[in-house]
Order: sequence, then structure tokens, then C-alpha cells
Amino acid sequence: MEKAQQLYGIDSYKDWLANEGLPVHTGLAIDCFAVETADWARVGARGAALHLDGRGDFCNMFLLEIAAGGSTLPQRHLYEEVIYVLEGQGSTQVELPSGERRSFEWGPTSLFAIPLNATFRHFNGSGAKRALMVSTTNLPMVLNLFHNESFVFNNAFHFEDRFGEESYFAGEGKLNMVRQGNDTWETNFIPSVQAIELPSFSLRGAGGGTLLFLLADSSMHAHVSEMPAGTYKKAHRHGSGYHVMCVGGSGFSLMWFEGEQEFLRIDWQHGTVFPPAENQWHQHFTTSAVPARYLATGFGSIRYPFTLARRKEILGDEIAFAKSAKLGGDQIEYEDQDPRIHTLWLAEMKRHGLPPAMDKFFPAAHASAAR
Ligand SMILES: [Fe+2]
Repeated sequence: MEKAQQLYGIDSYKDWLANEGLPVHTGLAIDCFAVETADWARVGARGAALHLDGRGDFCNMFLLEIAAGGSTLPQRHLYEEVIYVLEGQGSTQVELPSGERRSFEWGPTSLFAIPLNATFRHFNGSGAKRALMVSTTNLPMVLNLFHNESFVFNNAFHFEDRFGEESYFAGEGKLNMVRQGNDTWETNFIPSVQAIELPSFSLRGAGGGTLLFLLADSSMHAHVSEMPAGTYKKAHRHGSGYHVMCVGGSGFSLMWFEGEQEFLRIDWQHGTVFPPAENQWHQHFTTSAVPARYLATGFGSIRYPFTLARRKEILGDEIAFAKSAKLGGDQIEYEDQDPRIHTLWLAEMKRHGLPPAMDKFFPAAHASAAR
């Protein structure tokens, strides 16, 4: 990064990105499978940066495409990233401070994090097909904080405290039962976030489950939620930067700001990503015959919340975003939601030929829809 000549208003992350020569994709939502990538010399693979509207101040996303039979160059960096595998099979090698190496094998719907500043390499295990991964990182925050590329990408410090148990690279972990909605699986690698069992999160409605992940003892957040077929969750809101990605099933989300009469609608399936913006109400609906599952990644983990808002969410007496807005919380109970929402969803169920399974929450609406 050349020393900026600007005297004020510098964005060190964007200056760095411009020099990397990566395509930058922007929007409310992006289909990762449709993103155009370009050669990324630093990494030795193809890549792109994703800047979604609701990404907030701290995070970005990188899409990484490794050609058949290819591998990345060894990398190390002083920012944290949570990596989700969209397509392909392969392995990642991580170097410990002792010089010893750990390897783990990933496939579609694997999720992992590289311990901070550890040297690592990805290998595509297929000689015929590409591997595609998307990572959520805190590089915008880190580069704007230090505004020195060499410090961030060429730093010899070993964070010995970030590696966890050896078994964390083998897909094992520790389940920390905190409370409903905050139960956490601590590990470095999850072979499949589609297959992992989720504890109940009934406070968010309709038989769903949620599990948080604490990966490589980092300050990046990740969680997976599921909605049974024929259901939808309650609307809620929180801070920005939680990149929601569908990992199984399909559905749509409605988003709106307080007081707005129109909803923004995003239809999603595997590969779609969108982060709701700061305090933007959002509500997720299934349209698949199988449960719909999504992953959300952002900044501020359960162990290291970083921001005051995030700390309040985690340490408050109640989970504020699972508390009714009528009581000062950040969730809209089914009985308080705009009646148009349920009507819209019933029409979607009909269109998809799927039986709604929300009767116990909306007995009157179902009775009138059946007439
Ligand atoms: Fe949310």
C-alpha cells in the first residue's frame, strides 16, 4: 500500500483493496455461485471481494475460487476470518508456532477459522472441479486500525493462545450450554454446518434451533439456525454485519426499517448471502419441503463481543433480540406482526404446494384461508 497522499477521510482497507486488483461486488444480496472472480496474485487463486449493503463498519467478504488440482500460496495475516465452503472438496494445512502442521479435509457446507496470523494453505482435492469458498473477515477494521499493510500481512508474531485443542482441527469441540439462543460449539472446524445438531431456540418461534460457534478463539461470530418446513421465524433486529447465508433448503426474508410500509424481499437458496443492516427488522420464511438452514457470520463473538451493543445482547438478563418490542426488546411476536406478512406467506405456501405448519400460532388465519 502506498502511503496515502490524502490528508483526511482515508479508508485504508479500500486503498489496499484497490491495489489488489480484485473485482468488488456490491448489493443488498449476492448469489455467491454467480460472482465473477479474477486472479489474485497474493493468494495464488481467483478471488473477489463482496461489499454487501448491511456489512457495517468491521467486516467484508472474500470469495475464493481454487482451480481443479490447485492450491493457494501459504498465507498469514493479522485479521480473523470465518470460511464457509460452498462447493468442492479439499484440505487446509495450518502451521503451529512449533512448525508442526495440522490438516483437515473439507467439503460443501464445512465451516472453519484459521487461528490468528497462523500460516495456512488450501488445497483443492479434486483434479476435475473447482473449489469455492466464501469468508467473512474483519480486515476492514484491522487495516483501518493499523493502516500499515506490512504489519497486517507480514507480521512474525505467533498467537499461541488461538489454536485450541488438537482435536479442534479434527472436527471435535466443546459444547458450552449458555442459555437458549446462545449455546455454543467451540472448535476450529465443523465438517458440515448442514449436518450438525442444533439445540432448540423456541423463543424465536415455530420449532427452530440455533447453535453459535466460537472458532479459533476469535472475535468473529458465527451461528447456524434452522426452521422446520412450513414455518417461519419471528421478526427481529440487531446490529449490522451479520452475513446471512442459506446452507440448506430454500426460503425468503423480508426486511424493513421501523415505520416503513414496504418490505424488501430477498429470495434465497444455497449460495445467497445478505446482511440485514443496523436495526433493520428482518424475518425469515421457508419455502422448501425440507427444513431451511442458514449460517450467519459477523464480528463480535460470544466470548469477545467487542461492541457495547453486542455485550448487552450476550450479558443482559434476557436476550434482547428475543424479547418483544412491546417490552423494549428487539423481536416482533407473531400476534403483533403486520397481518400482511402472514397472508403473503400463506400465498407462498400455496404457490409451492406445501402445507403450512403455523396453525398453533395463527388458528384464526388458517381457518379463514381454508374457507
Ligand atoms: Fe438476525
